[in-house]
Amino acid sequence: MGNGHTMPVVVLISGSGSNLQAIIDGTQADLPIRVRAVISNEPDAFGLERARRTGIETRVLNHRDYRSREDYDTALGTSIDGFEPGLIVLAGFMRILTPAFVARFRGRMLNIHPSLLPKFRGLHTHRRALEAGATVHGASVHFVTEALDSGPALLQARVPVELGDDPERLAARVLNQEHRIYPQVVRWFAQGRLGLDAAGRPRLDGRVLTRPLQLDELTAGQPP
Ligand code: GRF
Repeated sequence: MGNGHTMPVVVLISGSGSNLQAIIDGTQADLPIRVRAVISNEPDAFGLERARRTGIETRVLNHRDYRSREDYDTALGTSIDGFEPGLIVLAGFMRILTPAFVARFRGRMLNIHPSLLPKFRGLHTHRRALEAGATVHGASVHFVTEALDSGPALLQARVPVELGDDPERLAARVLNQEHRIYPQVVRWFAQGRLGLDAAGRPRLDGRVLTRPLQLDELTAGQPP
């Protein structure tokens, strides 16, 4: 890991953790963060194994052990705060978050969603995109705000739908792109270049992002 300034990050997962892996791989190159902990609500999430292999601390907070969503999110927030992260990265964390939790980490919590937001919020995005006859699908990294999958999108990757695609095939190509856009946005945040301003608008290098950036418009990771 690099010696310069690295931002402590907590990653929340529920499953495979391939986006977590892309971020871990980034830290082994020059992504200026340190994954302080990986927290999962699912005890068997494979992402926990990925973290352990790299020597990253892991926690399981099983939502089934809590009486209410509020209780769970309070415990989760306390656990996260214990690691003093500058950024919280939701990477396939399959939970609806309470408004109090979102407010607690507002402006420093990112999520990745497998669609070109605002299209196809919620679940089963690949199947729904195919059913809708979309010719282009993709993924978005966004700041987390109160409503589900609706915080301002920051960076998107477009993925053309191909003849003969089924949800699995399409999902696999989208996932490859997720692994490119998530480390990029995490990098901008860790470099202090990206944030939400007082009006709740995302800014990159001081400029308000009125629409999400597109991966295929970046030159060497820099916005146009
Ligand atoms: C990704 O498709 C992500 O966009 C969605 O859940 C999936 C997580 O995959 N929110 P992984 O656990 O990172 O492999």
